Amino acid sequence: MEVLRLSIQNSELKSKKGEGLVKEKALLKIDGKNLELPVIVGTEGEKAFDIGDLRSQTSFITYDYGYANTGSCLSAITFIDGEKGILRYRGIPVEQLAEQSTFVETAYLLISGKLPNKKEADQFSKELTEHASLHQDFKHIFDGIPSATHPMAVLSAMVTILSGFHVPSGDPNKQNESEVRKFSALLLSKVRTIAAYSYKKSIGQPFIYPHRALNYCANFLHMMFSLPGEEYPVDDEAVRILNLLLILHADHEQNCSTSTVRLVGSAQTNLFACIAAGICALWGPWHGGANQEVMEMLEEIHGGGGDVKQYVAKVKDSNSKVRLAGFGHRVYKTFDPRAKVIKAACDRYFSKRGVEDPLLEIAFRLEEVALRDDFFISRKLYPNVDFYSGILYKSLGIPTNMFPVMFAIGRLPGWIAHWKEMRETKPPRLGRPRQIYTGPLKTDYIPVVKRS
Ligand code: ACO
Repeated sequence: MEVLRLSIQNSELKSKKGEGLVKEKALLKIDGKNLELPVIVGTEGEKAFDIGDLRSQTSFITYDYGYANTGSCLSAITFIDGEKGILRYRGIPVEQLAEQSTFVETAYLLISGKLPNKKEADQFSKELTEHASLHQDFKHIFDGIPSATHPMAVLSAMVTILSGFHVPSGDPNKQNESEVRKFSALLLSKVRTIAAYSYKKSIGQPFIYPHRALNYCANFLHMMFSLPGEEYPVDDEAVRILNLLLILHADHEQNCSTSTVRLVGSAQTNLFACIAAGICALWGPWHGGANQEVMEMLEEIHGGGGDVKQYVAKVKDSNSKVRLAGFGHRVYKTFDPRAKVIKAACDRYFSKRGVEDPLLEIAFRLEEVALRDDFFISRKLYPNVDFYSGILYKSLGIPTNMFPVMFAIGRLPGWIAHWKEMRETKPPRLGRPRQIYTGPLKTDYIPVVKRS
């Protein structure tokens, strides 16, 4: 394939600033035919061939198992450089946000595209407070759920049901800006309440209503840990840690759950159903369920005497099928920048409180052993965001099966921002990948009596 340096006029693909994104074309020679493929260049210099006409012009499609090299959309929300370990939301490095911002402010940034001024921030906080309570009928729905149900199942079911209480227009293109803003605030606020209620339900304690005077994260901890007649004292350090964790989880461009939200939304499905689908995708142990897996792995190693080398040997044994939870990433081929921030926060938090967690010690040793081992070095496997996050969640008193739920609360602004961006892309287009069929050729139906 050659790259033709042509000047393209009137390119239809434009950046948010209105600049043409196609400045050159690549030449594909296939079966004696020449096809010019527009080369799309993003603001950070990433390049892609636009293969939109490939099949109609050549009868070929591209094959990319697991979408490792496929750009499914243009997006102005999050930038990742996996080779350099860079992550930015709307251009701002995630390290700066983790240090200086709050989760609510970061959510606003992702969804609205800019940091809020004081008036906008106050208005957004007001909306979050107004939407914090659930309709009283939710109590009956919670009553019917078996206590052993995983909180991710509860969360996804309840978010779908929310659509019945707050009916959005069936056609997302008919929702105006203020409606989308309202539903965003409503979801952010209510998902937090549902998450806390699902925990209370699982331990058989009464639901604790949201407190109007508390901010987003403090309110969550209050609903999780207060008891009737016994208020949970708000711990500023715990609130800060929770803000940090949620900020770090807030978006990660086209990951499995966000792509799910976009794909479901591309069928013009309402926001609640799209978010519920994202929650289900996130639940998997190779995605947002990894934080739970990490904790279970660390507990297993601890329970077995703390031999990390033995565990690493098991991971390396190709017959064992065991993966080192919290290690490896599709995009990062170096340290996940979020893992670095969380590790430093763990260090700070535990030494400030003067407490020791044996699981943190095991995690440190496991990381050290893995990072010196050729198995992990050659495959570029480094700790990801989930390697240390569970240890911090545990220190806040959050039980292991709630870890993926915490991830979902954190990822919600990202899902909403992507749903909104997808919906604003003109013209709207149904997401629908193709396949290469490898099944039997035409085979005639055999009636059951004649089958061997
Ligand atoms: N432990 C051991 N080996 C691993 C791990 C791991 N954690 N991750 C990848 N590998 C190995 C694979 O077995 C494969 O080895 P091979 O070449 O000998 O067959 C090689 O590394 C490449 O693996 P892929 O599965 O092709 O890599 P991919 O980019 O598709 O996987 C994934 C990414 C799913 C995250 C993987 O690294 C993994 O399973 N990690 C553990 C689960 C985890 O922590 N998930 C959270 C990810 S971050 C997030 O979603 C929030």
